Amino acid sequence: MAIHRESIHGQWSNRWAFILAATGSAVGLGNIWKFPYITGENGGGAFVIVYLLCIATIGIPIMIAEVMIGRHGRKSPINTMRDTAVSEGRSPHWQLLGWSGVLAGFFILSYYSVIAGWALSYIYPAGAGSFNSVTADGVASIFNNLVSSPESLIVWHSLFMIMTMAVVARGVKEGLEKAVRYLMPALFALLLLLVGYAMNSGAFAEGAKFLFEPDFSKLTANSVLVAMGHAFFTLSLGMGAIMIYGSYLPQDASIAKTSITVAIADTVVALLAGLAIFPIVFANQLETAAGPGLIFQTLPIAFGQMPGGSFFGMLFFIMLALAAWTSAISLIEPAVAWLIENKGISRARACMWFGLATWLLGLGTVFSFNIWSEVTLFGKTFFESLDYLASNIMLPLGGLAIAIFSVWIMHTQTVRNELAMKNEFSFKVWHFLTRYVTPVAVIIVFLNVVGIIKLS
Ligand code: PHE
Repeated sequence: MAIHRESIHGQWSNRWAFILAATGSAVGLGNIWKFPYITGENGGGAFVIVYLLCIATIGIPIMIAEVMIGRHGRKSPINTMRDTAVSEGRSPHWQLLGWSGVLAGFFILSYYSVIAGWALSYIYPAGAGSFNSVTADGVASIFNNLVSSPESLIVWHSLFMIMTMAVVARGVKEGLEKAVRYLMPALFALLLLLVGYAMNSGAFAEGAKFLFEPDFSKLTANSVLVAMGHAFFTLSLGMGAIMIYGSYLPQDASIAKTSITVAIADTVVALLAGLAIFPIVFANQLETAAGPGLIFQTLPIAFGQMPGGSFFGMLFFIMLALAAWTSAISLIEPAVAWLIENKGISRARACMWFGLATWLLGLGTVFSFNIWSEVTLFGKTFFESLDYLASNIMLPLGGLAIAIFSVWIMHTQTVRNELAMKNEFSFKVWHFLTRYVTPVAVIIVFLNVVGIIKLS
């Protein structure tokens, strides 16, 4: 007999609401801010290929596994992992996976909010025409003025945290579902517009070549790890965000189909962002490896030159902030749901406490760009260390544990019932990938980076 639980936190209205919410979680700063800048830092084409391979062979199978576990457990990831492990006759210690997810979400949101603050801070200047005919040097100085001021960064970071907490405090359906319904299509349209501009900017071919022509000599063991880490980050995997969204998924929705739809949408957005940004980088002789400021130093040039640029520029930064918002919400939902379930406190209070702690940790990122920019650990600032630890280590480890749990720990019959795939062959493919390919791939990438094995 299949067990079907209900979530106390509510449920999505239908499959589409889940697709929108999960896409809202997946599509965010990871696609538009992080993907272009890490692609630039890691040499372009070859990195993009590894990233795409990771999405297909690691990301999609784990996403299906994570949604499946979430819908089966119907609780916060910590309790879902514990209950599912126990009902499958295994150790309740599997709940540790939920804990590491809460911690990863806490780390990620702390810097995510600071960067989202950058987007917020660009809305007004874009609309007021500050980017009109601006030169590359001009945008660089606008950006440097922003990040060198801890006060400004704190104001925008605080505003973004308040926005996030306000939505999460309202709960699943009221807050989350409405926020994403119009946002995703609008963001998509704006990106297409930017790609259209990039096509006419003169350096489109060069940009596309950088993005798609692989030069494997530029690929290091560390860039392979970064590509894999990013596959987890961009699909919101390995920390329980997609698991908790899965726990609000109606019982009759197909998990595999919805997951694949979300992964494709997410990948298309990232590639469009790359196609919009690199032609501008080349047309203006900018550095591909400019780092976290890349989009903030390139896109304003485009807006400054195109007709209606103030309007579109303003719209773009609004969309970017909104996309970050719908991702941020999912970063804290696992922790908030746990606080409600186990501590019996209200949603609003849970948001307040968790939000406050995250805000405080975010100050470390704020200072990484100014007063602490020289303070480094293994050559990385506080922000870079936190991102590296969360994205490249915690998420892949969490994802590995999810893969192992779903195919080695849970009974195949339970999984089969939950996934309810009509096509037996598809189930077998997923099961095989998740059982062998995915874990082995993740482990190889880890061993490769610590130098135990050599891929190249
Ligand atoms: N996927 C989000 C992005 O690309 C970030 C995120 C990571 C959200 C992990 C939730 C969990 O911006």
